Amino acid sequence: MAHKFKDWLEVRIGLNDLIRTQLTEYRVPKNINILYTLGFIALAGYIIQVVSGIFLLIYYIPHPEYAFKSVQNIMNRVPYGWLFRQIHVVGSNLLIAAVILHMLTTFLMGNYKKPRELTWIGGGLMLLITLAFGLSGYLLPWSQLSYWATTVTTSAPTAFPYLGDFVTKLLRGSDNVSGITLSRFFALHVAILPPLFLALMVLHIFLIRRIGISATPFGVTDEEKRPLTQYIKKTHPDGYPFYPDFFRKEMLMVMAYFTVMFAIITFLSTLFLPEEANTPADPFETPAHIRPEWYFLAPYQMLKLVPNKFLGISLQIILIGVFLLWPFLDTYKEKNLWKRPVLRGIFLLFLAFWVVLMFWGRY
Ligand code: HEM
Repeated sequence: MAHKFKDWLEVRIGLNDLIRTQLTEYRVPKNINILYTLGFIALAGYIIQVVSGIFLLIYYIPHPEYAFKSVQNIMNRVPYGWLFRQIHVVGSNLLIAAVILHMLTTFLMGNYKKPRELTWIGGGLMLLITLAFGLSGYLLPWSQLSYWATTVTTSAPTAFPYLGDFVTKLLRGSDNVSGITLSRFFALHVAILPPLFLALMVLHIFLIRRIGISATPFGVTDEEKRPLTQYIKKTHPDGYPFYPDFFRKEMLMVMAYFTVMFAIITFLSTLFLPEEANTPADPFETPAHIRPEWYFLAPYQMLKLVPNKFLGISLQIILIGVFLLWPFLDTYKEKNLWKRPVLRGIFLLFLAFWVVLMFWGRY
């Protein structure tokens, strides 16, 4: 049966040729390392979110009266509902961690350099959209935690004169976080962000295949010509076939991703669902400790420390701009960050600063 279907497809789309050119004869660099599997992990993580999210969508009700109850229903009454919710909640945090790690390691290896500027910018936009997924999804359970964390994060733009109030109002739809905010965040989470993300992901993967994956700068000199004046596809004739050699490694890493996910679900089930996540939202009772999610803690703490909020947010917007346009600002030939003491120093300082702010914001 499977053979017949394969033959049927072969006649119509030239399946064998597709498999040969895209999988078995597509070669990856011979010195490829484990850091190159992070992009695939992010891709797998995104698919896991879509599948578990669709399951939750069947039972979830986006209305302030019912949202919390419908989520409790998923947790307590729907068969395996708790598992799908935990996969979605833990998965969202792991996905963000994987995307950040993928970005950091691409940076470390200088793989954003010419001709891969567009791959980097597209990736950066995907990171911003992933964070927006996190922000919008957090409100949906309509718990004390989600309500007040969203109140904190959506009030950040108000530091900007004129435009800030407009942005906060646009996000909330009202003066405070309300049922209208819930509708807007729901629309963002399930209808607006997914197609945007998908389009960027298709572009990202197209660019990687079209330009050719770069060799790692560790150990060997990368022979990729710079400055580049014409389109040259980077191929690796002496490298490994993507399928089955590298694909096997990628699947192994996806298994490791699942292992971490199920370890958290099993042994640390309240890590992302603490007490306040099990209390319905009450707009009249502010909890003692309100904090945004871990990935927003550093910018949140930074805003708290800079006395002038306008200055704080402007600085963050400039940082995002520098981050997105970095490949155009860094035209130095050397790709390996460890061979660039100044940039390495700035990078490590920035990482340390980020981690300190994150923990400061947390405790
Ligand atoms: C969910 C989001 C993302 C997905 C699914 C994804 C997927 C991938 C995949 C499968 C690869 C090829 C293998 C690898 O190097 O890992 C890749 C490469 C790359 N990614 Fe991403 N990525 C994402 C986010 C990002 C972000 C946030 C950035 C940086 C801002 C980025 C920048 C790059 C670059 C520059 C490459 C090219 C590496 C090379 O040719 O050596 N990506 N991505």
